[in-house]
Amino acid sequence: MRRITALVLGSSAFVASAALAQQPSDLVDKGRYLATAGDCVACHTAPGGKPYAGGLYINFPGGIGKLATPNITPDKETGIGNWSDDDFKRAMHEGITKNGSYLYPAFPFPWYTRLSDDDVRAIKAYLFSLEPVNAPRKPADIAFPFSIRDGLLAWRLAFFTEGRFKPDPKASEQVNRGAYLVEGPGHCGACHNGSKLVGASQWSGYLEGGTIDGWYAPNLSGDDKQGLGLWSEDQLTTYLKTGAAPGRAGVVAGPMRQVIEESLSKMSDGDVRAIAAYLKTLAPKPTYTPDVKSDFKQASAAPGADVYLNRCVACHRPDGQGQPGAIPPLAGNGAVLAKGPETVIRVILGGLDAKGEYAAMPAVGVGMSDADVAAVTNYVRQTFGNEAPPTAEPGQVATLRAETQTMLAGNAPCETVADPTLAGALKQADAAGQLKDLKAEQMLPRVATLLPAVRQAAPKADHAALVNGLTATYCQAADRNAAGLDWPTAIGTFAGVVYGQLKNPSRVEK
Ligand code: HEC
Ligand code: HEC
Ligand code: HEC
Repeated sequence: MRRITALVLGSSAFVASAALAQQPSDLVDKGRYLATAGDCVACHTAPGGKPYAGGLYINFPGGIGKLATPNITPDKETGIGNWSDDDFKRAMHEGITKNGSYLYPAFPFPWYTRLSDDDVRAIKAYLFSLEPVNAPRKPADIAFPFSIRDGLLAWRLAFFTEGRFKPDPKASEQVNRGAYLVEGPGHCGACHNGSKLVGASQWSGYLEGGTIDGWYAPNLSGDDKQGLGLWSEDQLTTYLKTGAAPGRAGVVAGPMRQVIEESLSKMSDGDVRAIAAYLKTLAPKPTYTPDVKSDFKQASAAPGADVYLNRCVACHRPDGQGQPGAIPPLAGNGAVLAKGPETVIRVILGGLDAKGEYAAMPAVGVGMSDADVAAVTNYVRQTFGNEAPPTAEPGQVATLRAETQTMLAGNAPCETVADPTLAGALKQADAAGQLKDLKAEQMLPRVATLLPAVRQAAPKADHAALVNGLTATYCQAADRNAAGLDWPTAIGTFAGVVYGQLKNPSRVEK
């Protein structure tokens, strides 16, 4: 592992590759790293399926339809096993598949076109080192006329520019490396650009923030409030590696969690810092005029104030500052200050697993009306010094509610425990048996006896892993009526009890 990191760090993309020893295994290692930086596995893996064997359905905006990703393992029949280096390069750089037809820009080739030829060759070498998986393409479901690939020609002529990354001669090598990773493999603009690809170029609204799959990916420009202007390079580096940063409001949610877990957290410290250094060079580009409606000036009279008092204040506090090290502040929070309200609505409706030093947030919105969710969303965007436009409406909440499926909301399958040591520890402690018919008042004592055994058997599991692991086990094992609470409240309370026990075990002596 050390060696790979060193190799990548030493090979800024613009240094002639002749400097690298092109041993096949080095090329494979380099390709594995770049495939991680490009998060290929995120799209090319079906839920529960083999990595890179494709089969994940990707929805197009506007109800145009959906498309399954292809198998990119080296299977000769159903994957890319028969592809030459040139075939692969053409797909990555030009968005054209082996038989010559155009690929939909749901495949982020408008960004991958920035990758150097050497880096593309390395990715192919890595994919070809994988076990071939026989997995035929699942059928697409795309409405006419978009179903005709030739129709993509018009889009391409209007919006797509092919071309490798060009370093800025005035910028440092570090900043250029960061720019390369952001523009190329990281395809950050695919989510963070203001205009999205169907009908827009890859560079319009560059990193100024926009919606993606019903979330809002915030402005990454240098603006103080709407963007990253007040983040230090250190804070940004820590956020990109872990999803939260000391001294900054906010913790990562939604699709960015996957980007961090699968991609950024596995990249070298030097590369993540280079990304932060590059982002910090972006000029401020505010996308909304700070806006405080007069009825929000008097916070107590605001329509969402009551809802906030009833549903949020216990955790996020009257001043929206949260609780250091346990609950993130809503004041000055990037998700709350984003131009679009989607992320806040989603979090209220679906809750959030524990992350870093933060507790889990229960899916409090399940029991709330669409109107209340919209009102409290606007309220938090307009108080505590926040000045984001109060545009959330009940209809939008209803749409996002239909799309929000999480374990904490009780409308998605229970999560599984990925870490084998922790899974083993839970089993050994008979967590499932202990949590089976738990009444609400038994949660505390039962967790208090269970936790030490689990921690002893899985000493490396951090707080978030323990909260999420025990909550998943509770979800799988529990009789959902035993607690005497509605299920989202029961599981949210359970997650809170585990967290409380970890942070402050002395409080619950038996
Ligand atoms: C955001 C989702 C997404 C990501 C990330 C992604 N792909 Fe894809 N990819 C797709 C989709 C969707 C298609 C199919 C497009 C079509 O059929 O028009 C595709 C097609 C391809 C193809 C063409 C295969 C064929 O049979 O025509 C290749 C090769 C490919 N991707 C490689 C990669 C590599 C390598 C990476 C990482 C560097 C990657 N993809 C990352 C979504 C993604
Ligand atoms: C039981 C405590 C609790 C309650 C009640 C609660 N939250 Fe949270 N909230 C949290 C925690 C903990 C997190 C961080 C979760 C994580 O990511 O690990 C959080 C995260 C958030 C975030 C995401 C912040 C970010 O940085 O991305 C928003 C927005 C939010 N809460 C809004 C609300 C609103 C609005 C309400 C009321 C409708 C509410 N919360 C009720 C505990 C709570
Ligand atoms: C699949 C979509 C997606 C991709 C790709 C993506 N992001 Fe994000 N990003 C999001 C979303 C959605 C959020 C909001 C999450 C939240 O508020 O908790 C976010 C949040 C962030 C934030 C926090 C901003 C703030 O003000 O709180 C930063 C910084 C960030 N992303 C940087 C990046 C970088 C750098 C890349 C490329 C390496 C990237 N993102 C790629 C979707 C994406």
